[in-house]
Amino acid sequence: MPQKPLTTLTVEKTEGITWITFNRPEKRNAFNPTLIFEMEELLLELETDDETKVIVLTGAGNSWSAGMDLKEFFREADESPALRYRSFSSFERWAGEVLSMSRKPSIAMVNGYCFGGAFIPLCSCDLAIAAEDAVFGLSEINWGVIPGGAVAKVITDTMDIRDALYYAMTGKTFDGKRAAELKLVTYAVPREKLREETILLARQLMEKNPTVLAFTKQAIKTVRHLSHSDALEYLGAKSMALRFADRAGTRDEGIRKFIDEKEFRPGFEPVKGKDR
Ligand code: ACO
Repeated sequence: MPQKPLTTLTVEKTEGITWITFNRPEKRNAFNPTLIFEMEELLLELETDDETKVIVLTGAGNSWSAGMDLKEFFREADESPALRYRSFSSFERWAGEVLSMSRKPSIAMVNGYCFGGAFIPLCSCDLAIAAEDAVFGLSEINWGVIPGGAVAKVITDTMDIRDALYYAMTGKTFDGKRAAELKLVTYAVPREKLREETILLARQLMEKNPTVLAFTKQAIKTVRHLSHSDALEYLGAKSMALRFADRAGTRDEGIRKFIDEKEFRPGFEPVKGKDR
């Protein structure tokens, strides 16, 4: 855990799941510089934490996060270029890069309001489950700013261009059900099932070999930005790297169980969650 006590986050570890809760409910969990710095330090720490098999990001109170803190991240940081630079670059690092390419699988459990800059960690999480009545909005247009700091990039990487333009240009809000239709989140569930469904999904991830899981997510995220031939080259190298990194020999073991011992047939594995 980070050296200093956390003031804007809570962390709870249960059965392999590390629950990180944005904890500024009185400010709707808006990302201020303190939260940003605490998140970066925490995520770097968790990267090598053996207890953490899956990371879940959620928010205290009625919000996942109301986006960037308009007072502390925008107005006050305008007066301090050093703070602005440090908080901006820290945010891009953890919310964009560290979380996205982490060796730990991540789930955004969207429990409520999710606006503006919050779309960056939302899209960086590998999977996202929203409460059906959660409220999403690309509200930058209302504040006289563009969806900057990578927001425009992550929404166009995740959503269809027509939907990204529509919601960014109108600033209209939409609910969790619509977010699932837009494929901004993996699926939406009734609020009372949100935690239970998140645990179910996290358990399914924990059944996989963690190294193979990490390489899989990293491969999928990386090839999206490569040409076909570059992707083939990269995937060949990544596959070889996995043979080396996976000390459990998952590949050989799987083939042995299927071909020789006939005790494993993935095509007949029972469907544990809903088949969405
Ligand atoms: N930045 C700073 N403070 C915020 C933010 C924010 N993004 N969002 C909420 N707060 C603060 C409010 O100023 C208020 O503070 P106060 O009690 O000191 O007055 C407190 O949180 C509670 O806010 P309310 O509006 O009273 O809460 P309510 O539950 O009624 O509404 C909602 C929540 C819908 C999230 C509303 O606060 C809102 O619209 N917030 C702005 C959301 C937004 O547009 N964020 C994007 C910012 S731009 C970007 O991220 C790039």
